[in-house]
Amino acid sequence: MCGIIGYVGKLSAKNEILAGLKMLEYRGYDSAGICCFEKGELKLIKKKGKVDTLIEVCKDKLKDVHCGIGHTRWATHGDPSDKNAHPFLSENNNVCIVHNGIIENFETLKGNLQKQGVRFRSETDSEVIAQLLQKSKCESELKKVQELSNMLVGSYAIAILFKGLENQIFAIRKNSPLIVGKSKDGYYLSSDVNALVDKTTEYHIMEEDEIVWIDNEDCYAFNKNLQAKEITYLPMNLSKQDISRGTFEHYMLKEIMQVPMAIKMTINECESIINPYNKLPKDLIRDVKHLTIIGCGTAFNAGMTAEHYARERDIIVECVYASEYRYRKFLSQENELCIFISQSGETADTIEALKIAKEHQIPTIVITNVSTSTINKLADYVIPTKAGPEIAVASTKAYNAQITALYNLMDYIYCVKNKINCRTCILKDKLYDVVNKLENYNFDKIDELSQLILENERVFFIGRGVDYATSQEASLKLKEISNIHSESLYAGELKHGTLALIDENTVVIVIATQKHLFDKTMNSIYEIKARGAKVVLVTQFDVQTDAIDMLISIPTTDQAIMAEISIYPMQMLAYKTAVLKGLDPDKPRNLAKSVTVE
Ligand code: M6R
Repeated sequence: MCGIIGYVGKLSAKNEILAGLKMLEYRGYDSAGICCFEKGELKLIKKKGKVDTLIEVCKDKLKDVHCGIGHTRWATHGDPSDKNAHPFLSENNNVCIVHNGIIENFETLKGNLQKQGVRFRSETDSEVIAQLLQKSKCESELKKVQELSNMLVGSYAIAILFKGLENQIFAIRKNSPLIVGKSKDGYYLSSDVNALVDKTTEYHIMEEDEIVWIDNEDCYAFNKNLQAKEITYLPMNLSKQDISRGTFEHYMLKEIMQVPMAIKMTINECESIINPYNKLPKDLIRDVKHLTIIGCGTAFNAGMTAEHYARERDIIVECVYASEYRYRKFLSQENELCIFISQSGETADTIEALKIAKEHQIPTIVITNVSTSTINKLADYVIPTKAGPEIAVASTKAYNAQITALYNLMDYIYCVKNKINCRTCILKDKLYDVVNKLENYNFDKIDELSQLILENERVFFIGRGVDYATSQEASLKLKEISNIHSESLYAGELKHGTLALIDENTVVIVIATQKHLFDKTMNSIYEIKARGAKVVLVTQFDVQTDAIDMLISIPTTDQAIMAEISIYPMQMLAYKTAVLKGLDPDKPRNLAKSVTVE
């Protein structure tokens, strides 16, 4: 949800900022902009569209600049346009800002400023920040920034330039991430660490309400009361290879090919001496009566997959979307434990849901892929997934890593509750076998299936039990990157309404990996076929029937963990369909990777 970058130092600020924006583009690509100090003036260039458009516009401009800020936008308030693009200058062009987040009280603040005669140039909530700073009567810029943070309600990561303070950047954050990077050539600000790889040797994750002030020489941090704070720097341990596309055409393809690695690394983490499960207090786990799993999108779907796995082990789980958990009536349940799942660890709804659980003194575990994320700092216990940086908007390898971690966690809970002395990873051998099978999986039918989908009007994914959870995830993948209308539903629910939509222009993809449910699912297949739809079956079983138009065979494993395998061809299906349609799977319409706003 919007990417912020800032640079001050010896190098060309223009080059550093534009390169950083390319790395942050997955956070939003509605518009991009840059503002630098040029001969003492704030020089602003911004453009609707992707970062490449901005790069083109900036050619031969902004020469010899050493300090500036940049932004790539995912639109919330105001359409994607030049005028709504960041950075924003104040009315007198003396202050320039970039913002990630949402200013919830912007209408009130804007109304007050308008009454004082301030004219606004955009429809955004963000512009009010620049205008408030311009109007401030505080004697120092640092005090103006402090005053600003006391006025804003909502979420924000903000970088600020003040005319007259050349080569200085101010920044604040609340509920949106912001990182300071340090190198021998200067200082950087960035919404995430990825944009700082190969640029900096150390980085500092700004804390809530922290104010930083950066110049050529140093970076100073202050708390809300402007008391100086010590800065903790962490070593940069990512390499360029971790975050580059390498020889792959898209990040999503690279990440699908990394699914086996993501599963393997997540298992290995549990086998290591830093085994995260050992840090969970045994009495807490033993006494748990109610598990609530909370997440959004793919992370929620991973939770649903685990729900079935847990049920087989007599553990009751309720899965709730974070956006619902936040606002539903809270009912206290005896010995509840909340598990939050988030690839990025920055999803606003998930973070807020976690805060609510904490307010009610419920113990919290997070399963995240980004060790430095906000959610990790807030939770009581952390179980890391080891998928490595996931850049494509559509989540793939992180999903498999999440379900791997959840299987392990459910096994651990089961063993502690039943006083079974379990090895750290009961499923280790089976999961390694899955890794091996996925590494050798042949996607040969997927091109044909993509073609079939494009020749038809709508797609349904159906399944029973855990296969429904996989259907949900498969459907989400397809719709988010190929813009094709698709729905998922329980196979048994078709005849209660949705069957009315099934005709000869429909493709129904049936996921059937559970032996005890197979015959029941076959009944649904016959009902669908009788209405003329094209039926595609994804299964490990041998099936001979005319009711199926296409069989996607998958390798077999313990049926409790078949979800690791059955999703794999579906991830590739989404990718190939988007590419066949001429879309960029890494940058789906209207979406962004990290949803840091509500
Ligand atoms: O970073 P998170 O796991 O918290 O993100 C949650 C969702 O926004 C995310 O899974 C989203 O649904 C993906 N685009 C799905 O591919």
